Amino acid sequence: MKWQALRGFRDFYPEEMALRRYIEGVWHDTARRAGFQEMDGPPLEPLELYKVKSGDAIVAELYAFCDKGGRDVALRPEMTPTLARMAGEKAAALPRPIKWYAVPQLFRYERQQRGRLREHIQWNVDIMGAREPAADAEIVWVAVEALRRLGLTEQDFVVRVNHRALVERKLSDLGFDGDDVPTLLVAIDKHKLDDKDIAEGDLTFLAHKKDEIAQLRGWLDEPGAPEGELEEFFAACEDLGCVSFAQLDRRIVRGLAYYSGIVFEIWDRKGKLRAIAGGGRYDHLIQKLGGPDLPALGFGMGDVVLSELLKDRGLLPDTPPRLDAYVVPIGDEAVGPARRLVRSLRDAGLKTEAPYRPMKVGKALKTADAAGARRAFLLGKEEIEQGKVKVKDLATGDETLQDLESAV
Ligand code: HAM
Repeated sequence: MKWQALRGFRDFYPEEMALRRYIEGVWHDTARRAGFQEMDGPPLEPLELYKVKSGDAIVAELYAFCDKGGRDVALRPEMTPTLARMAGEKAAALPRPIKWYAVPQLFRYERQQRGRLREHIQWNVDIMGAREPAADAEIVWVAVEALRRLGLTEQDFVVRVNHRALVERKLSDLGFDGDDVPTLLVAIDKHKLDDKDIAEGDLTFLAHKKDEIAQLRGWLDEPGAPEGELEEFFAACEDLGCVSFAQLDRRIVRGLAYYSGIVFEIWDRKGKLRAIAGGGRYDHLIQKLGGPDLPALGFGMGDVVLSELLKDRGLLPDTPPRLDAYVVPIGDEAVGPARRLVRSLRDAGLKTEAPYRPMKVGKALKTADAAGARRAFLLGKEEIEQGKVKVKDLATGDETLQDLESAV
């Protein structure tokens, strides 16, 4: 029997792990630079937590099961419900605004498609306790800044911004109410508002409102100038230096049920990939989960689409040498001194490795090179007698003789 990872799950060999850590490193640095603190929660939560407020799409994709104690549980498909639950529990004791970030692994039983896996790492950056659109702008700045630090530019990605209340008002003006509204929001999100969708898709029950849907389409395609909170948001983006990445787009409504105000998604400009990130305001979620009335907003950015984009644009980082020093004992008598040299180089903070048995010089240099070392420390009978070690720079080929006691 040959074993393989489950469909939609990834093996992270060192090369893939290095890319993951590189991206995560930029995420951590950028969030901290804007004053966010890292947090985490359990990977397994009560199933109800997601049933209460995640959108139907996510609930359908849950990895859910009944545990040995008879409790219905689910692997986390997103971080927001956990974060809202945790913030709600401690809200009274926490200074406002609460600014948290997390880098959890999430699980969704998705249909196999490009950019969508059944497990992904998602950077979450959230603010709780701020009603001002300046907070929404700060959130967008954080997302943009991370992408900029990864080498992406305005030519590579765009932040599409909208206000959910604007769309809801328009739907009401056009005479839609009750269940029509969530259905239409999903249809807008999925770009499924055409006559075909009314004739044979999810919107057949709205066939008698074909004209209103046509008017809605016209309005969606006509972005106009930002007003109200969106105007304040764009002004704050201007000050923060990320406005050139942002664009008003009335079709962005976000699929998840809990969003309330400004919402946004980040897309690759070529439109070849799925969304790189998505988020917005969810001012009522914390209260709906039993916490206080605490406005909140944030976004999630996944590693899958982002890695594809970086590969596509040739922005993968150079891998730095794995080792600073490769210490080679030449002959049996050098094994002990070589091990002691390894110890002192590691104490000095150098990434150091040595073979477990003596080697010939030629083979040793090849091995050191293949191991990705910057320098080889060659230790033979002659060097030991002189209290020295020969140090060879593997890039330039330069050789020096250093004192064995103080070599670095
Ligand atoms: P979301 O739009 O479901 O939002 O996910 C955010 C991002 O995570 C997506 O744009 C995508 O890059 C990535 N992603 C989602 N599902 C998958 C998947 N199956 N495979 C690979 N990547 C994926 C949320 O999850 C919200 N909870 C984000 C949020 C945080 N809103 C406020 N705070």
